[in-house]
Amino acid sequence: MKKGLFIVFEGLDGSGKTTQMNALYNYLTKEKDIKCRKEREPSESLPGALARSAIKKQLRFEPQTMALLFAADRYEHIIHDIQPYLNSGAHVLCDRYVFSNFAYQGLELDFETIYGVNKTAMEMLMPDITVFIDTEPAETLERIGKSRVGNELFDKKGAAVRESFYKAFDFLGEKGLVKNLLIVKGNQTAEAITSEIIEYIERNGL
Ligand code: TMP
Repeated sequence: MKKGLFIVFEGLDGSGKTTQMNALYNYLTKEKDIKCRKEREPSESLPGALARSAIKKQLRFEPQTMALLFAADRYEHIIHDIQPYLNSGAHVLCDRYVFSNFAYQGLELDFETIYGVNKTAMEMLMPDITVFIDTEPAETLERIGKSRVGNELFDKKGAAVRESFYKAFDFLGEKGLVKNLLIVKGNQTAEAITSEIIEYIERNGL
């Protein structure tokens, strides 16, 4: 059985990454009849639930604990969900992965610390393709404002997180850990972004 591809979507909150992941999922499953799974991080694991509560400001943890919680969630997610689906031949589309840990926890911790925390997960699995939807922070903030009642932990830090994503791609790229990175400008119509993603994916693996 040929293993499925692991395709990760990254971007700021409100960047459109979830919409784009859903569009690719619909294209692959409905138009191409390809077996796919949709996943997201933090996942449904217990450490993931704690991390989500902290994002919603219902709980508070030290930055190092936050990095460990997201990484523990990732480890559970890989073992119990992602790897089994990939081994069954399905492609896994995942809304956020390890790059988010660098981009967000990297606002308070150095990258070497985050690298150490995520090393086991990264040795087990890195994406075959990563799609980064690069939407201007002012635009994401406006979209978030329309869709959410309360503020979340990182809502106002878009510009810093965006910069941190680029630094993370460089940092992990230098370690040979970034394969097939597509950066798409988010200030286009959703349809134009979807076409760009489909074209890239068909050129690079499917
Ligand atoms: P989302 O479900 O809307 O993408 O939100 C998840 C939040 O969790 C988002 O603000 C980014 C944050 N996050 C981290 O801080 N570190 C991580 O490793 C991951 C996966 C997410």
